[in-house]
Amino acid sequence: MRDAAPQTIYLKDYAPFGFDVREVNLIFDLAPNATRVTSRIRFAAKPDAEHPDFFLHGEQLKLIRAAIDGQEITPTLTETGLTCDVPDGAFTFEAEVEIDPANNTALEGLYMSNGMYCTQCEAEGFRKITYYPDRPDVMSTFTVRVNGDLPVLLSNGNPTDSGEGFAEWHDPWPKPAYLFALVAGDLVAHSDHFTTVSGREVDLNLYVRPGDEGKCAFGMDALKRSMKWDEDVYGREYDLDVFNIVAVDDFNMGAMENKGLNVFNSSAVLASPETATDANFERIEAIIAHEYFHNWTGNRITCRDWFQLCLKEGLTVFRDAQFTSDVRSAPVKRIGDVIDLRARQFPEDNGPLAHPVRPESFQEINNFYTATVYEKGAEVIGMLKRLVGDQAYAEALDLYFARHDGQACTIEDWLKVFEDVTGRELSQFKLWYSQAGTPRVKVEEDWGDGTYSLTLSQSLPDSPGQVDKQPMHIPVAVGLLGPDGDEVRETQTLELTEARQTFRFDGLAAKPTASILREFSAPVILEHGVSRDAQAFLLAHDTDPFNRWSAARVLATETLIGMITDGKTPGGDYLDGVLSVLRNDDLDPAYRALMAGLPTQSELAGVLADRGLIPDPMAIWRASETLKQAMAQHAQDLLPRLHSQMRVDASYRPDAEQSGKRSLGSVVLSMTTRLDGGELAASEYAKSDNMTLQLSSLGALLRAGKGQEELAAFYDQWQADRLVIDKWFGLQVSLAEPDQTCAVAQKLTGHPDFHWKTPNRFRSVLGPLAMNHAGFHHGDGTSYALLADWLIRLDPVNPQTTARMCSAFQTWKRYDADRQALIRAQLERIAATPELSRDTTEMVSRILD
Ligand code: ARG
Ligand code: ZN
Repeated sequence: MRDAAPQTIYLKDYAPFGFDVREVNLIFDLAPNATRVTSRIRFAAKPDAEHPDFFLHGEQLKLIRAAIDGQEITPTLTETGLTCDVPDGAFTFEAEVEIDPANNTALEGLYMSNGMYCTQCEAEGFRKITYYPDRPDVMSTFTVRVNGDLPVLLSNGNPTDSGEGFAEWHDPWPKPAYLFALVAGDLVAHSDHFTTVSGREVDLNLYVRPGDEGKCAFGMDALKRSMKWDEDVYGREYDLDVFNIVAVDDFNMGAMENKGLNVFNSSAVLASPETATDANFERIEAIIAHEYFHNWTGNRITCRDWFQLCLKEGLTVFRDAQFTSDVRSAPVKRIGDVIDLRARQFPEDNGPLAHPVRPESFQEINNFYTATVYEKGAEVIGMLKRLVGDQAYAEALDLYFARHDGQACTIEDWLKVFEDVTGRELSQFKLWYSQAGTPRVKVEEDWGDGTYSLTLSQSLPDSPGQVDKQPMHIPVAVGLLGPDGDEVRETQTLELTEARQTFRFDGLAAKPTASILREFSAPVILEHGVSRDAQAFLLAHDTDPFNRWSAARVLATETLIGMITDGKTPGGDYLDGVLSVLRNDDLDPAYRALMAGLPTQSELAGVLADRGLIPDPMAIWRASETLKQAMAQHAQDLLPRLHSQMRVDASYRPDAEQSGKRSLGSVVLSMTTRLDGGELAASEYAKSDNMTLQLSSLGALLRAGKGQEELAAFYDQWQADRLVIDKWFGLQVSLAEPDQTCAVAQKLTGHPDFHWKTPNRFRSVLGPLAMNHAGFHHGDGTSYALLADWLIRLDPVNPQTTARMCSAFQTWKRYDADRQALIRAQLERIAATPELSRDTTEMVSRILD
């Protein structure tokens, strides 16, 4: 149970641990309710530390016995750990503790999922396994023996011995405890192998529950491609004889990069064409790559403390995005990432939960695995690479790996390698790590005598605990187009470092159109002084595919805002522009599908709020529906041809080419359904032989108010497949009409398959409830109350997942006084819940502040 006043931890208080850990030996005697963990840890006081305090973290442990150098001791136990007197110099600390994995519903530490034992230690879960200095700057080799009557017994590193009821593992690479893992269960392996560039033979295994064998091939292939890519692009080779991945159904996040033993949420690794969508395949490929890439960026070089989380996460997200861009389409990946950044990170950065990429304080570190740390953290790496250039980036990374291998590092270490390689001074750039909030960049243009000037002004809004910020170092990639649409100035990176700066382009024959912030070169909000005509021109001609999409997005946004605030009808410039893109067969279908997309309703609410208006969720919903209908009518003549062109006859492959066709096919199907009342969708559903098509046609039917029969048939067909049933739950809530959303979600929470203690299932209903903008913000407040009810119920069971989902309320101050009052009441009700977890307490109080 939590103590009365939660403690705040500060970056500025960092102090190293007084001891080195030379070696860790662990023995696990597995039993569901009484697992014994016997530890033998070799400590040595650091040479420079004078009689340091010996404190080991430990939570929810039953101490059976402790000893130092073989002598039993009686340590002092506290809520959070253990302390005792220790000899000078080196000594061996031993402890025997008992833990209860079967009742560990928080899914942190050692827990059970469907009869299988598994661990999640990042960030601070190892202290629920045994007493230990559970901090990332304490690194040691681990030797582990697992005793248990189960066919598969796994831990980190290389297998050293095994027999009836036991297995031993040794991990030769010093690691922090958060990378420890243990898995034991009745599992089957999908096996393969990989030969590294220097000839090391690596056994690869993907362990799954019996029955899931048919969903392993893609993940394994993605793993091998990731291993090869990291050798080719970053010169990083794998360093153990085995690489194991385990799929587990009960998991708080996507996956975890434990050394040599990655543990994955089954939704993030299992896939077959019949059960997974193209989007699922792409996500799986990216997560496999991400966790694998952590072997170097995270494991071999780890974080000194949890404030440095972006050191490994921002960089590894950046690396996995590079991988996806290389194996799929770079512009499509970039556009998808920016859509995601605007949907998740911008609201965080511009609301009560705003925090720097490197936070400076926290109460519960699990609350800082955020879009800001991960995705904005990756944007910062991308900006750095753009500023120094590809060559210097590669040299800096080589130096980083050479200099810091085996160390626990900081952002200062990271930036220093760039300074050393380039001779550049990066102190202003470093503000990206410490100043929260999304910078606004205002654009003004001037033209005369063959000179075009661009004046950029930046500002950074206040955020919790931060006011009066300094100008940032913002790379703004700009190209200029002439009146015929030809590029008269190639892309160049303008370095905006002052509050206001003018950049001149001379010797131009005619007034150009500027394409600004190409490739989304910085995570900022551009305040366009650029006219609607110029946007339509860019939509038609921009040579930068990202900005061409961006022009379509700006036009769509302005069109919708005109409809919402002034009752305007959709403009022909936008509809014609999108239509001409849709019919342009030279363009990648995936890209065309993105060009036809609208900003989300929540994004529109954010834009309205940004302009000082109060968003009305129903008006936003109606405008979006009207515009989609108008678009469908506008494209009517094109749809049949496009539909047949997007048909895939070859057998299913989840690659960029096929999935691109299916994604444009699905856009065409949605448009057609608005015109034919669901005829085409019903026939597509009937003949669908892959989940992408099955789900998109079912979705189109539901959106048209049809498809109840198909929905029931879908359930019958997939009843036994938990990952597909998650989709069945989610689809109904995300596609419900605004006044039905709460009722639909409420009903589904009463369904016998609503196993709410499994995070995937909980999220499958309550996630879409919060994401269905008009349904969640329905004026009567019932959706707010339903979400709060379930958060209150989940909190004692699983604080981590509860706390994460509280962010559904983070945008509450955008809305009108009535909605604000309704949300505030729910937040206060959650806050007032007795025994509320530290995780949820921190989130709710930050949101309310
Ligand atoms: N390091 C993992 C990843 O990047 C995330 C694990 C976070 N888990 C947690 N409970 N906070 O994929
Ligand atoms: Zn990660």
